[in-house]
Amino acid sequence: MRARLERDFDRFKRGLPRDFPAHVRETYGIDLTARYLGELVPHPIGKGSGQLSLNPGQLDDDAAAGLAFAVLKTVIAEDATGAQAMAAWAIHETKMKVERRRAGADREGWTVTWKGRGWDRPFGEYLALLRAGRDLTRAGRLLVVPSVKYHLPRLAEPFREDEYRHTTGLLADAWGDPPLLLEKDFSPTLAGDELAEDRAQILRWLREVPGRIRAASPIPVRVAMKLMNARFDDAFQVEMMNATAEADALVCFNRLFDAERGVAHGGWDLSDRNLRVLDSYRPLPPSTASYRPLTGTGNVSSGRMILEYARRGCESVQLHTFFQLPLSEYAATHGTRPERALHALVFHPQEGLIAGMLELEARRELERHDGELRFLDLPAHAHRAG
Ligand SMILES: Cc1cc2nc3c(=O)[nH]c(=O)nc-3n(C[C@H](O)[C@H](O)[C@H](O)COP(=O)(O)O)c2cc1C
Repeated sequence: MRARLERDFDRFKRGLPRDFPAHVRETYGIDLTARYLGELVPHPIGKGSGQLSLNPGQLDDDAAAGLAFAVLKTVIAEDATGAQAMAAWAIHETKMKVERRRAGADREGWTVTWKGRGWDRPFGEYLALLRAGRDLTRAGRLLVVPSVKYHLPRLAEPFREDEYRHTTGLLADAWGDPPLLLEKDFSPTLAGDELAEDRAQILRWLREVPGRIRAASPIPVRVAMKLMNARFDDAFQVEMMNATAEADALVCFNRLFDAERGVAHGGWDLSDRNLRVLDSYRPLPPSTASYRPLTGTGNVSSGRMILEYARRGCESVQLHTFFQLPLSEYAATHGTRPERALHALVFHPQEGLIAGMLELEARRELERHDGELRFLDLPAHAHRAG
């Protein structure tokens, strides 16, 4: 198997097989099937919301590369008059800087420095993008999901229901067949905002927002809450997870906010924090009423890191930074960045997903069923352990 993996890694530098999960299953007896927001996907690697899902061309490339899913850039909710309570997040900024970021003495990672926030073009253009995503989803090529930043009131204020209703109604119309899947984003810049200084206020959002979205939608909807890394301790981060009992899934967790520089960042500090919090969270088994599936995000730059998230309950992962590295950082010599990233994440003979799962089997931490190792057994074990 090791020798095969080395050979595959080498020959796939020029391009992955068209259906690489099928190849992995036939060759290694590994079933990479994963889950995102209740939908089965062929493997766990998707694209997180951001600057890499702004236009149909990017989605086409993701489908051609074989990504499992893509979350569209976060759009700012508006009411029928076009008013946006969260207008401060709809600002224009294009320049991104991909930089090395060190954690401690010896770990060098990557981060993207960027001062922008949410979707800054007309709402109608977002709907056109969503329709392009819907077509890819219907064609079975790529699961595409919109992301929204809805109004978040102060404790004494009511939610602006007209924004919830108008925005969700437009998205549901553009999507068509139910259910509508969507992510609600709590961003690092929100974590850094004075709105997020009050714990009770944050917990109210998390308790109430999924229900508000559900009530506002003309069709059945599944809501993933992408939680921010709040500027409080790990215990509060777990309290936030527990408060989102009404959500259909949790995305754990958006980038850290560097208050000194006024920018968000990723790298090893982000995965350290996320994994530490997930360690202290006790995922409930799927048979319980308040079970919520988890999806990981943050510094996923190897198959091993995917397994770290999976072993703590995550059924899939969402990446951004690893799709933006200089081309010289990928071993693959051909293909788009998503394709080169998949090549490394899945097939790297030491750091890849296949290598990592075979190692877990050798350590008897993962067993074959009907001759196959199954990725989804990893988050399932996390539940049982919890
Ligand atoms: C430039 C940039 C823009 C982003 N914009 C959004 C966004 O609009 N909505 C959102 O939910 N997450 C956004 N993210 C967060 C990513 O989706 C992802 O969760 C985060 O960067 C952690 O993953 P990574 O370490 O692989 O980058 C953005 C990230 C970057 C780097």
